[in-house]
Amino acid sequence: MTEHVREKLVAANDIDAALEESLTTVWDAKVYSWDNSKYPFNEWMLNRIRGMGYKLDDLSYLHESVPLNETYKVTKQLCADTNLPEFRRMLNRFVREVIVPQGKLRLPVAVQRFMNVRIMLPTTPELFFPFHTGLLYGHGIASRSIWMPFCDVTADEDRSRSMQILSIKKSRELIQQAIDKRLSMDEMTQLFGKESWQIKAGPGSACFFTQENIHGSGRPNTSGKTRVSMDFRVAEGIYGDYLGRKIPAGYFHLIPDTEEEEETLAAHPRRADAFFNGKNNIFYVANNTASTYGIPVHLQRYMLIDYCNKNKLEFDYELFDLEDMTHLPTLRYLVENRECNIVMYSIFALPEDASYRNRLLETAAKRGTIIHFVNEDLQLANADDLTTIKKYLEFAKYGKSRLPIGLPLTGASKLFFDKWAGSLAQYG
Ligand SMILES: [Fe+2]
Repeated sequence: MTEHVREKLVAANDIDAALEESLTTVWDAKVYSWDNSKYPFNEWMLNRIRGMGYKLDDLSYLHESVPLNETYKVTKQLCADTNLPEFRRMLNRFVREVIVPQGKLRLPVAVQRFMNVRIMLPTTPELFFPFHTGLLYGHGIASRSIWMPFCDVTADEDRSRSMQILSIKKSRELIQQAIDKRLSMDEMTQLFGKESWQIKAGPGSACFFTQENIHGSGRPNTSGKTRVSMDFRVAEGIYGDYLGRKIPAGYFHLIPDTEEEEETLAAHPRRADAFFNGKNNIFYVANNTASTYGIPVHLQRYMLIDYCNKNKLEFDYELFDLEDMTHLPTLRYLVENRECNIVMYSIFALPEDASYRNRLLETAAKRGTIIHFVNEDLQLANADDLTTIKKYLEFAKYGKSRLPIGLPLTGASKLFFDKWAGSLAQYG
């Protein structure tokens, strides 16, 4: 296991200043390039589409080979394919060798679990992606976005098939204006469009930007050619508690720090067999932590049922934890007293107190109790799993985070919650 080189931890007072510096310089809608032959994502995509039976040798002309009504299916398949081990290896290497140094990030970093692959056709003028920001989609302030076109869109005439973007400074100003004036989608398209510029990139280059840069197609693709691109996000551990709704392990996956770790992990077989240990699987639902507080138990239950069906696990009954009791007595009872496995919503539904939490997890591992964490698709079945789970919780600074885990806190949501500040202070 690699020891993370821990640069001197940024002092609490300076942490926002350091993040602000990074966001407004290196990550402010800057295009970076690299040797494409080392990470040929565009060729990989082209080959996958060919593998689906379509004849083409240039992604710019995909609309001539793939029938319109099959494009959505192709897009979804490509998104799913980005989780294939061979793609993941190339991507992780790319993140370590290009994004981390060029973006001046520090390890450990986590990467979005599924890439977004997008196909923008020249034949569907009514379909284009309106302007937006990551914050408005529930992403946290410290998350970083990468937009990578697989077709060359550097020419001026390719403007409408590229992506349009605005500086972080201008974006902050205009988003506030849009909120204050309650602008419609059309008004925003007008206002943001005027200030936007075309990202000029192609295979071997990408735009790095923040969750505050306004971006989008903003207009129909009238170039006559298709654009295929991929976008995804990365996050640094140092700001692991500034990721809004996109919490680590569910949305973000920690990637190995080195190629050697990558090899070791690849050698580990998937252990679905271990889940069948003869014990009943019992559902556990609760609203006792920041990230489960607002998730109704019937929605948690849907996720648990879906997970069990996918994994062919039988399930028995359900226990609910006692609201207000942050020591989660029901969970403790299941772990310490029952001979069962536990199916629960998330690792972020575990107790926030680290020593108590570790005691429960270690007891479960010792007693052969498997705990399934559905949202993250993580399972506690052995000591290695325990290490992985602890790494994710540490990444998110669970229990000592500066903002509640799983809640977006922009200036606007702060105002939103402040509505109740007065009555809450008087309550009880
Ligand atoms: Fe976006």
